[in-house]
This record gives sequence, C-alpha cells and structure tokens, in this order.
Amino acid sequence: MLAIIGGSGLSQLANLEITRREVLRTPYGEPSSPATFGRLGGVEIVFLARHGYGHTLAPHEINYRANLWALRELGVDEVIAVNSVGGIGTGMGPGVLVVPDQIIDYTSGRKHTFFEGADQPVVHVDFTLPFAGRVRSLLLEAGASAGLTLVDGGVYGATNGPRLESAAEIARLQRDGATLVGMTGMPEAALARELGLSYAMVALVANWAAGCGDSAERIVLEDIAGILDEGMVRVRALISEHARLLPV
Ligand code: HPA
Repeated sequence: MLAIIGGSGLSQLANLEITRREVLRTPYGEPSSPATFGRLGGVEIVFLARHGYGHTLAPHEINYRANLWALRELGVDEVIAVNSVGGIGTGMGPGVLVVPDQIIDYTSGRKHTFFEGADQPVVHVDFTLPFAGRVRSLLLEAGASAGLTLVDGGVYGATNGPRLESAAEIARLQRDGATLVGMTGMPEAALARELGLSYAMVALVANWAAGCGDSAERIVLEDIAGILDEGMVRVRALISEHARLLPV
C-alpha cells in the first residue's frame, strides 16, 4: 500500500475518496494524526498529516518514529513524502516542484533511529541513495504523463528549525551542495530506510531561502501561503497520476 505524508500546505488530499479514519498507537507514542484511508487513482492509499490536522506540531516536535512505525504496521511499503522547502540556487525559485535525490542532515536532538537501547542490536543501514529509485522514477513518469514540470534531482538540506536560516547558514548549505532546505526531511527518510519502506520526496519550493533571490534582505512569509496553495494543486494531480500508474 502507498502512503502519503503531507507537510505544510497539504494537510488533506482533496481528491481522495475517504473510506475511513483510524487513530494509531505505537511503542514510540502517538503519530502526528489519525490515518485517513481512501481511494485515489483506483488504488487504496493512506494519508498522514505530518504536522497534525490543525498544523500544531513544529518540525522538531513531530514524532517521526511513531509516524513511520504506524505506517508500516498498516501494511504500507511505499511512501511519498510531500515537503515544502526553501530554494537555493539556479532554477529553484518559488513554485518549482522537485524530486530530490540526496539529503544532508543538519538536524540535532531528534529521535532519529529505531536501533537504540540495550535490547536493540547495533544496525547500520545503507543510506548512499537516501530515496527509493523506483518511487522517484514513477513520480517523474507520473509528472510527465500529467503534463507537470518536475526537476529531477536535488540535494535536500534538513535544518532543525523552527526558525528560518541566516543568509550565512544558507551560503554554507550551498557550499555543501544543498539546493533545497527544509526542516522535516530528516530523520523521516532515514527512519523509513530502517524499516525497509520505499520512500521518496516531492518538494515544493515555497520561497527563496535566506539570502537568495528575492529573499536577499528577508523572507516575506506572507507570500508563502499563496505559493503553497497553488503548488499543492499540482502535487495532488501528481500523486493521483502516480497512484494510477502503480502496478497492481
Ligand atoms: N527554510 C527551511 N525550511 C523551509 C523554508 C526555508 O526557507 N521554506 C519552507 N520550508
């Protein structure tokens, strides 16, 4: 089964025919929201709101372990994460949709692994390619077939937040090779890998990152909602097409 984890701007899927909702519990605590089940593009999918349905959880308050664990318990094997991001560098302006292929983790103090504690073995998962190639390819194919422009590849830098970055921090991320910045990609992607879930991300650029483009002096937060509303219409179309193309 396919799961969608919706971020800022995507707390529900308007085109989802909802069949039921389920409150979830895990050994790691409560997930961000109940799971919403429904049909999309002819297949059953499950949707989880990363920040909660009322957008009450800040990036560092999200129980990423509970979210991923609950999805696996529901029988999910594939996850599309939807993340709003800041754009760094050429071609990454507001409104652009990206299917990133790499991640750099700048977060700290988050519960970032299932493999801890005296009763757990020491496990090092491979994370060379942090996103599932098969899911990325199908997303790109779905984008082409739905007539949407997607950027194939990008380096997602995950910062801790909740404050936005300084211009110097973004310049450092750019020197590191990051082309996008967001606050929720990690540890989510790594936890998905630890559980063996096939996980890929669709990133919607909400704003130029600090010091870039028209955010040279400051980030105008008032502009972001409109960009997200318009962009998420395309994200919903992309996800529907992805679901339609899934092998049965
Ligand atoms: N920085 C970090 N996270 C973000 C941004 C940003 O500029 N925009 C949307 N999410």
